[in-house]
Formats: sequence, structure tokens, C-alpha cells
Amino acid sequence: MASKLIAPSVLAADFANLQRDVEMINHSDADWFHIDIMDGVFVPNISFGMPVLRDIAKHATKTIDVHLMIVDPDRYIKTFADLGSNILTVHYEACTHLHRTLQAIKAEGMKAGVAINPHTNVSLLEDTIKDIDLVCIMSVNPGFGGQSFIENTYKKVKQLKEIIDRNNASTLIEIDGGVTNKNAKQLVDAGADVLVAGSYVFKSEDPIQTIKGLKEIIS
Ligand code: DX5
Ligand code: ZN
Repeated sequence: MASKLIAPSVLAADFANLQRDVEMINHSDADWFHIDIMDGVFVPNISFGMPVLRDIAKHATKTIDVHLMIVDPDRYIKTFADLGSNILTVHYEACTHLHRTLQAIKAEGMKAGVAINPHTNVSLLEDTIKDIDLVCIMSVNPGFGGQSFIENTYKKVKQLKEIIDRNNASTLIEIDGGVTNKNAKQLVDAGADVLVAGSYVFKSEDPIQTIKGLKEIIS
């Protein structure tokens, strides 16, 4: 089985010590940087935008996984490619022409991801699954870090895994929101490949050890 990945969410970092926190991830057992971009319209919060991502990318030495929580994401696909995104994830609920959006992301040389809100059924991805490199199952309502994990997520992971296998797709399943040492094992057992963790990593006393611990639980 391919190895399972940890993607710390920079949303929970200390923005006044951003370079320190980026270097911490560089030197940890983490696999990816998870970058949350919020526009205050698709979600009721604004995180940070292009200049901050540009500076993160200057220092980051691992895959940059960008999660766009914005309306009409097509407007910014090229911008995010130029900023150094390796994976660009858009929300199913924000795309009228999802298939076209996925092709546009790939045309810019990035992997294409689709995020789904807790209320969105995984079966809606059946017809695009072969075009999707990563599905991000939101295990909280997007917009804020530090929320509690929604238990219904396990069922969604299993259902999505079944769709991926049935279609012979190689799509990765990412889980985003409320991930801790308490649910990590059950999530990978259900079929998850990538776990995003924000508060659990950054609010811990020793983030390097916390990441190492998560990695041990899932490998
Ligand atoms: C929520 C974001 C998440 C968030 C996760 O809208 O998409 O990536 O940073 O944070 P935690 O792990 O604290 O739930
Ligand atoms: Zn996210």
C-alpha cells in the first residue's frame, strides 16, 4: 500500500513567525504544506492571499497543496500556478463547470483537487473521478481551524474509496478538519491517503514530535 501522507495546515501557524513555522514543516516528517485560501464569500472568513503564499513558497521544500475556499476559482488558476502551487483544489460547490475547471488546472501543470463540504454526497463525483487527482473530504464546515471532526466522515471515505476502485482511478483521498491522533488511524483504515492537521499540530507543545506521532499512527 502506498504510504500515507501528513499535510500540516499553515492556517494554524503563527503568522508573525511564518518562516520559522515553514522551516519547522521542512524539517519534520510532514509530506505536504496545506495552504487554505478563503475569500470571505464562499466561507465566512478571510485567511491570507497571494503575497503570503508567494513568500511561503520561497522557503517551502515540500509539495504545496492549495485549498481554495473561494467563489469562481477559475479566475485564479494561472495565478496559483505561477505562485508555486503543486496541487490546486477547488470546491465542488463553487464550480458550475467542474470538468472544465479540472482541465484548466492540469493545463497549468498542477494536480487537480476537488473539495466537498460535509453536506455534499461523494456520489456526485462519480462522473469526474477519473479526472480528479485528489478529493478533499471536508470533515468540518470550511472556514475555520480548530473545529471538531464530523463523525459521518468515515462513511464518506469508504463510499468514495469504493467509487475510486470501481472506476480504476488513482485519486487520493484527503481529509481536512479536526484531524488528531484520535481519528487518524480510523481514517486511513477507511481509505484516506492524506491527513490535513492544523490546530492539532501547531497548538501542540512540540509540533515536530506531534507530526512524527501522526506519521507513526498511520504508517
Ligand atoms: C478549514 C480548513 C482546514 C483547517 C484545518 O476550512 O480548510 O484546512 O486549517 O484546521 P484544523 O486541523 O484545526 O481543523
Ligand atoms: Zn483546508
